Amino acid sequence: MKMFQNLPQKHRSADISIFSVMSALASQHDAINLSQGFPDFPIDPELGALLHEATVKGWNQYAPMTGLPQLREAIAADFKRRYAVNLNPDTEISITPGATYAIYSAFSAILGPGDEVIVLEPAYDSYIPNIEMNGAKAVPVKLVPHTFAPDWQAIKDAISTKTKAIIINTPHNPTGSIWAHKDWNQLADLVRDTSIFILSDEVYEQLIFDEQSHYSIVQHPELRERSFAVFSFGKAFHNTGWKMGYCIAAPMLTQAFRRLHQFLGFSVNTPAQFALAQYLSLDKREAPNTLLQSKRDYFLELMKETPFTLLAPAAGSYFQLASYAHMSDLPDTAFARLLTEKYGVATIPISAFYSDKHDDKILRFCFAKKEETLKAAIERLAKIDL
Ligand SMILES: Cc1ncc(COP(=O)(O)O)c(C=O)c1O
Repeated sequence: MKMFQNLPQKHRSADISIFSVMSALASQHDAINLSQGFPDFPIDPELGALLHEATVKGWNQYAPMTGLPQLREAIAADFKRRYAVNLNPDTEISITPGATYAIYSAFSAILGPGDEVIVLEPAYDSYIPNIEMNGAKAVPVKLVPHTFAPDWQAIKDAISTKTKAIIINTPHNPTGSIWAHKDWNQLADLVRDTSIFILSDEVYEQLIFDEQSHYSIVQHPELRERSFAVFSFGKAFHNTGWKMGYCIAAPMLTQAFRRLHQFLGFSVNTPAQFALAQYLSLDKREAPNTLLQSKRDYFLELMKETPFTLLAPAAGSYFQLASYAHMSDLPDTAFARLLTEKYGVATIPISAFYSDKHDDKILRFCFAKKEETLKAAIERLAKIDL
């Protein structure tokens, strides 16, 4: 029908993302799904009980637009304890239905037609559509191949008079690399005399390994003034389906963020906010990094039995990269399909994280799974005979 023909094209990405494609292929072929980034193990029963308690106690109506005060206060206390920073829960923290929503809303608060945003690739797949849906243009800059460190010269060269923002992600999806304090300092040097905003996607901040620590943009006094930092409870507490997150930004930026949020989502799931506020205030909680590090180590050890070549062990996140370059000449998307259809293990090809589909024959494996899932997947991968 004619009415469906001229709908506006709000972004240039595919109609269905590679994550949905690979998950559908996985279920079609009864494959073990190490593609999409979600845990297959249960949440802490205490958190589940708190959600139940919230509904029974009557926390079932709209929460305030900015988020339940007790949750914002619990986040401020958590940041004080973990990062030694003071946050004002009323003027700097907004609760959101997940981090992706926070990223979209932050972009929406600052972007207009003609603006440019620098995106470091490989990059989480929602960034570029979120930029384009807000009428702006994404300017992709590749991280250094294989080490995935920032290429400072390339970033500097990409900055123009139209650059409105740079989006950073640490710990990084899909590579598992992390930014050190010195990287943030270099970024600060680069943007000091500009009016460029920073969007800092820190959803994996609590999943960081080998005794390393996450350095948050909110700890950087100079960058904090010009940044939106987004976080996801889903990643921290293994409950991605709750779609709960928050945005931390300086008061002026928080105001701009909330001007949009009040007419987008307006209010976020009240019982989940109640449960998370209580949970954050508990003295004893599961340490997500310890759990995920044991899974990463288990996965790395087992992968030695397969023909893949592992890249550097993930420093953080849910993800480990491995190369198959010595095993096949197939492009990575075709290889990932073959692995799903013939060997029963679904992964994500790294070309999906590049706008030019750059292909180094590397796959992303999600290790946020039960040991039995990882073991069964690797038994299948060990049988690969090409
Ligand atoms: C880098 C990155 N940012 C944001 C998100 C989304 O977080 P949420 O589920 O809270 O929207 C993901 C999820 O995979 C991610 O990998």
